[in-house]
Amino acid sequence: ATTLGAQAAQSGRYFGTAVAAGKLGDATYSTILNREFNAVTPENEMKWDTIERSRGSFNFGPADQIVGQATSHGQRVRGHTLVWHSQLPSWVSSITDANTLRSVMNNHITTTVNHYKGKILAWDVVNEAFADGGSGQHRPSVFQNLLGNGFIEEAFRTARSADPSAKLCYNDYNIENWSDAKTQGVYRMVRDFKTRGVPIDCVGFQAHFGTGGPPASFQTTLANFAALGVDVQITELDIAQAPTAAYANTVKACMSVSRCTGITVWGIRDSDSWRAGENPLLFDRGGNKKPAYQSVLTAL
Ligand code: XIL
Repeated sequence: ATTLGAQAAQSGRYFGTAVAAGKLGDATYSTILNREFNAVTPENEMKWDTIERSRGSFNFGPADQIVGQATSHGQRVRGHTLVWHSQLPSWVSSITDANTLRSVMNNHITTTVNHYKGKILAWDVVNEAFADGGSGQHRPSVFQNLLGNGFIEEAFRTARSADPSAKLCYNDYNIENWSDAKTQGVYRMVRDFKTRGVPIDCVGFQAHFGTGGPPASFQTTLANFAALGVDVQITELDIAQAPTAAYANTVKACMSVSRCTGITVWGIRDSDSWRAGENPLLFDRGGNKKPAYQSVLTAL
């Protein structure tokens, strides 16, 4: 096939990109979006500080715009993200009472998941809950600090009740290297969830890489998580300077694992990237395909 989405579809996978609602009117941007990709992730529009900036007042407008556009172009949507310590409004992070926070968290999840019921391929229910470094434990956050370790399980159970057919993912960065303590911590959590019947369907590997691309163990990591009985997805791929080999290696790692169901790059053109200074994407500022584009297409 001649586009990323169509090529990925040949093996039953999707190839997606992060999308910003404010760019949908940019003709170069939307032309590439609708030609190349069969999945999208709202880059910021489904985050708590957009969806529920003040308590109980929900603003689905920007995300609805993305979901509507995607649906009309036959693109799947990843929901990103329900519970995250970042881009969290201060009215949430300043809560000091556990019961209040529990009801606020569950209301946010239920209202949001319910609004998009039937339209979302997979939700990143909890994002980046594990600490960097060697602890293998959760990071501090208002959720962790007030609700304890159980907040992740509670978020997944609440999301499942709201939309039983959406896939529910845990998503994180720096969990691609099998031997890292952070990877092991997430692995133990997923194994525990599967053992106890906590509803989890998938793990998202953000894959924000430096110039070297993925660690050598990335395919092993994907395979080991998949062996727990979850799908795995590459959810926010970008690679400093976009070397062809680094992109090809990342795609090959996914293609070699049958339960690796899709890949999402975190933006279209280098100028769209949150790491714009590193030119980490598949299209240049003019919207032209970079060498890494061809290496990805070939590896799919
Ligand atoms: C980034 C967006 O790309 C930026 O526009 C925003 O300013 C900050 O967040 N991990 C995630 C994504 O899960 O939501 C982040 O996206 C990048 C890191």
